[in-house]
Amino acid sequence: MDTKIRSLIKKLTLEEKVSLCSGSDFWHTREIERLGIPSVMVCDGPAGLRKQNLEDENGDVNNSIKAVCFPAAVNLAASFDTDLVQSVGEAIGEACQAENIAAILGPGNNIKRSPLCGRNFEYYSEDPYLSGKTAAAFIRGVQSKGVGTSLKHFCGNNQEYRRNSYDSRIDERTLREIYLKGFEIAVKESQPWTVMCAYNLVNGVQMSQNKRILTDILRDEWGFKGLVMSDWGAVRDRVKGIAAGLDLEMPSSYAAYDALVIDAVRGGELDEADLDTCVERILDFVFKAVDNHDDKAVWNKDEQHLLARDIATECVVLLKNEERVLPIKNDDHVLFVGGFAKKPRFQGGGSSHINCMNVDSVLYAMQGNSKLVYEEGFSAVSDERDDKLFNRAVAAAKDADKVVVFAGLPDSWESEGYDRKNMDLPQVQNDIISDIAAVNDHVIVVLQNGSPVAMPWADKVSAILETYLGGEGVGVATVRALYGKINPSGRLPETFPLRVEDCSSYIDFSGDCEEIEYREGIFVGYRYFTKKKIPVQFPFGYGLSYSTFTYGRMSCDTDTMKDDETVEVTVDVINESNIPGKEVVQVYVEADIPDTRIRRAVRQLAGFKKVFLEPHEKKTVSFILDKSAFAYYDTKLGDWYVEPGDYKVEICKNAEEVISSMTVNVSPRKPQKRVYDENSVYMDIMKDPAAGKIAAPFFEKFAATFLDSGKRDESAAEAFGTDLEVYLRDTTLRNAVNMSLGDLTYKDMKELLEKLNR
Ligand code: BGC
Repeated sequence: MDTKIRSLIKKLTLEEKVSLCSGSDFWHTREIERLGIPSVMVCDGPAGLRKQNLEDENGDVNNSIKAVCFPAAVNLAASFDTDLVQSVGEAIGEACQAENIAAILGPGNNIKRSPLCGRNFEYYSEDPYLSGKTAAAFIRGVQSKGVGTSLKHFCGNNQEYRRNSYDSRIDERTLREIYLKGFEIAVKESQPWTVMCAYNLVNGVQMSQNKRILTDILRDEWGFKGLVMSDWGAVRDRVKGIAAGLDLEMPSSYAAYDALVIDAVRGGELDEADLDTCVERILDFVFKAVDNHDDKAVWNKDEQHLLARDIATECVVLLKNEERVLPIKNDDHVLFVGGFAKKPRFQGGGSSHINCMNVDSVLYAMQGNSKLVYEEGFSAVSDERDDKLFNRAVAAAKDADKVVVFAGLPDSWESEGYDRKNMDLPQVQNDIISDIAAVNDHVIVVLQNGSPVAMPWADKVSAILETYLGGEGVGVATVRALYGKINPSGRLPETFPLRVEDCSSYIDFSGDCEEIEYREGIFVGYRYFTKKKIPVQFPFGYGLSYSTFTYGRMSCDTDTMKDDETVEVTVDVINESNIPGKEVVQVYVEADIPDTRIRRAVRQLAGFKKVFLEPHEKKTVSFILDKSAFAYYDTKLGDWYVEPGDYKVEICKNAEEVISSMTVNVSPRKPQKRVYDENSVYMDIMKDPAAGKIAAPFFEKFAATFLDSGKRDESAAEAFGTDLEVYLRDTTLRNAVNMSLGDLTYKDMKELLEKLNR
């Protein structure tokens, strides 16, 4: 421990220490003037800075200063580009420095378990690897500017309904492989200064006092060194929270629990050392922020506005482009339809809401274009149909070369605080798209939404461009993509199902119950759809380009490895077109172990890289895969384990389309020691050659008895057929004793077990 902090802790009274463990107001840590302990400010993001305007006379926590709004988390994940995400983090870090903010409250790193979660726009993906890598890049960017982050909402926070009190019931393997994995990657790779615990419970324990997750896993297993703060108002039992490793309560509860904590220390219920540990981490955070503060930092909002446009451009996902209707040519007569063209939906609602200075609408970006006609057609804020607007747009569509409909979810349909009821767009939008498609063959739909929507008209339109919530530069970015000034290169960080009912979480999501059973286990998103072969609208990882990419030879530098070794996977990518563009190369791993006892997804993402290719350029892309690409979480072992066997390493276009694959045999350096008992079955014992040899005489004796017609009714033997192997397959050691008509004894079995386990 820092000597300065150690000596401060010695000087603090018990009351002062306790007071430090809660904020001083909505956004600040507590100051202790007599000891020179300053107060620092944290503030929301993470799509930009949401700093409360401290000059507001009414102290309105929702009145925040003007800031730059970058694309939402879902967009950043769709870029599949960690360098890009890092650059957003850097920009936000600069803003924080200039505004003297100690840490930004983000990134949000929860898994999109259902397309209906109200905060999906604030989260990255349904896949923990993509989530973790994206979060790690964002954290790296912000923290490179000497400003902290708060990785949130840790963990199991995957819906908004009853968000303070629901209990996420998640089995251990699923917790480790899906809901903790993204946090684990981000913590290990980027050491966020802080982690924010979630509101909910996990497996019966409120996250704000969940010692197993906040301390045993986060700190002891993963090596997290920073501070844990509560989500706003998430504290339940402050005494238990301190003992569990929840250092800082936010916001201030105005000493609601101080007396309880003081009594608990005095009464011996809470170890003062635990309190000191929390204080130490708080002081460490405060002084780190102060030491890293740069009072000369500048925040150039105009420059960042341009950056926001560029970032948004990189996140656009082209989902459909029949007959190359896109890009639009400069001399095409185009009709734009939809309220969103004028009033874009570019950010999500709730605590991440940025007070923007400057928002580019699509119409703004098209100013002065004489080939453009605009008809509103429908409102961007409601589902009300205005027949006059609607009919004018459909009539105008007849005369246009191409029609672009700007559709999306109104602000109030998707926000922190509540979940969506369904995956639908407003009916008026579905109707107008269908009616326009009936009179014009070149309809392009541009979507502005934070999470998947149903597209009943998908087959009727020529092109679909998913722009998600593109931040304040959305208009310019969209026009660039539509007119081919840039080449779309985003990929879906989540599956777009055909119907929400097809999702694995459908039955156990939200609903009026406090216990949310994660019964689908690890089969979330594409892990489920590929396993069940359920058709989807667009798979995870999907996205098109104006370029045409092909893949050349794939190679692996080994076909056998131990789990402490790595394999390098290499593939050539070629841009066959005349248009420069970026391809996202994706690597997945599929276990190819026929007699596996592990339930597995068909394939899991293990790597991705975005590469820029000039026309007709070829580049070689390579990935290093280590144990984490092959391991599953073994609950008996309490650790990650690679089941020995063959694994297909696959270069894919998306989660459903494999381009090429090679097999690597992977085995653990320290094979799991099998322990046999009375219930061990023949087929498992025989799979292990050494054990099989030892047990063979025992089972041979049993088989002889079984076939010995003198001892056993002939018809019984016949009833099982002559296929002894089939009968034996499921026989346990004790079955063999019980059914051997006295030929095998309990003692025989005990002796055999002793030999097997030796
Ligand atoms: C949200 C957090 C946010 C905090 C502060 C909470 O309601 O869940 O994500 O950082 O408020 O605004």
